[in-house]
Amino acid sequence: MKQSLIKLCLVFAAVVLLAVPQVSQAKELKGDLEIFSWWAGDEGPALQALIGLYKGQYPNVNVIDATVTGGSGVNARAVLKTRMLGGEPPDSFQVHAGQELIGTWVKSDRMEDLTFLFKEEGWMDAFPKGLIKLIGTDKGIWSVPVNVHRSNVMWYIPANLKKWGVEVPKNWNDFLKIAPKLQKEGIVPLAMGQNWTATHLWESVVIASIGAEKWNDLWSGKMKFNSPEMIKAWELFGKILPYTNKDAASLSWQQATDMVIDGRAAFNIMGDWAAGYMSTTKKMVPGKDFGWIASPDTEGVFIFLADSFGLPKGAPNRDNAIAWLKLLGSKKGSDTFNPLKGSISARVDTDLSKYNVYLQSAAKDFAKDAVAASLIHGAAANETFVGSFAQVMEMFLKTKNAKATAMACQQLADKAKIGQ
Ligand code: GAL
Repeated sequence: MKQSLIKLCLVFAAVVLLAVPQVSQAKELKGDLEIFSWWAGDEGPALQALIGLYKGQYPNVNVIDATVTGGSGVNARAVLKTRMLGGEPPDSFQVHAGQELIGTWVKSDRMEDLTFLFKEEGWMDAFPKGLIKLIGTDKGIWSVPVNVHRSNVMWYIPANLKKWGVEVPKNWNDFLKIAPKLQKEGIVPLAMGQNWTATHLWESVVIASIGAEKWNDLWSGKMKFNSPEMIKAWELFGKILPYTNKDAASLSWQQATDMVIDGRAAFNIMGDWAAGYMSTTKKMVPGKDFGWIASPDTEGVFIFLADSFGLPKGAPNRDNAIAWLKLLGSKKGSDTFNPLKGSISARVDTDLSKYNVYLQSAAKDFAKDAVAASLIHGAAANETFVGSFAQVMEMFLKTKNAKATAMACQQLADKAKIGQ
């Protein structure tokens, strides 16, 4: 009895000793933490859940959730640029893994090296080597990944397709066969939104046309943007566009997804944040209320992107930001955030039982598919290219001239030093 009492006391003392530094550190952190992202409104629930966790751990920190609405960060990235160049960085900001981070912010020496965090937190083994490579250079590791998203997914409502007697097209030939029939019945075959969502669709079409390997060759400079294969890919894109909605330019990605949900359109090609939107916001059941398939002719390819957060040099509340980054990279943070977001965890030790059937299928595909880097979501190219590509896309949407657009694209690649 006496012995077990002593044992109990020792265990209690150990628990207290272990807990004290953490509690006091949590108490010590105070002041602000400004987090900058484009996850506002119905893109917000997953981020809100993380902020909730952070507030639970650091109740004395005032979290400023600075968001600038606009899918793929079209507006946020411009605001961020002004702030960074003006010497007013937030404490931490959303940035895509890959060239958006490396070719833009690391290149201009605006980020802090986070290698120490990766070592301290055991993240060198928690994240896949390939992903660490994407957020690293020979001088450091520059952000903390929070997820892996897939860009090439085609969404539909099974009940609607059944009603219309339409099969899910596995390739663009099949799509081009069923599209006129749908259109005749007043159904938009493929819902699309504003300019960046056209580029989103475009990357799926190009990869369908040239394959993942050649797509990757474009970004390493091995293949030219004005090559005959690329002109052909633009031509295919030109054949698909007439089957999209006329008001595309004025719609957000959510509004384009809504067209499918409401039965005004048959399909939509969007990243799997659309699964987050449908399941988290719209409370639809994946596999029942909505269905998915790899965008036509891209089965076996996973067009990849990852959101991450970095620590800009001169962050006003550095300690609070580091605590934030630690939470983002943790298993708990990741498995809280991703099931709501519609993305899979970037960590290798994720608890898949917390994820819905769509996400479980995405995780399976990610493990076996060929990986291609998304352009519009910052993995493949730097900000100079992505920013100006909007004009190249605009030119094509207006002129449908494949050859001229391919030439303009190569000029832009030269200017942005792609593959150099
Ligand atoms: C992507 C981002 C996703 C999602 C999407 C729509 O660029 O990586 O997390 O927010 O834009 O806005």
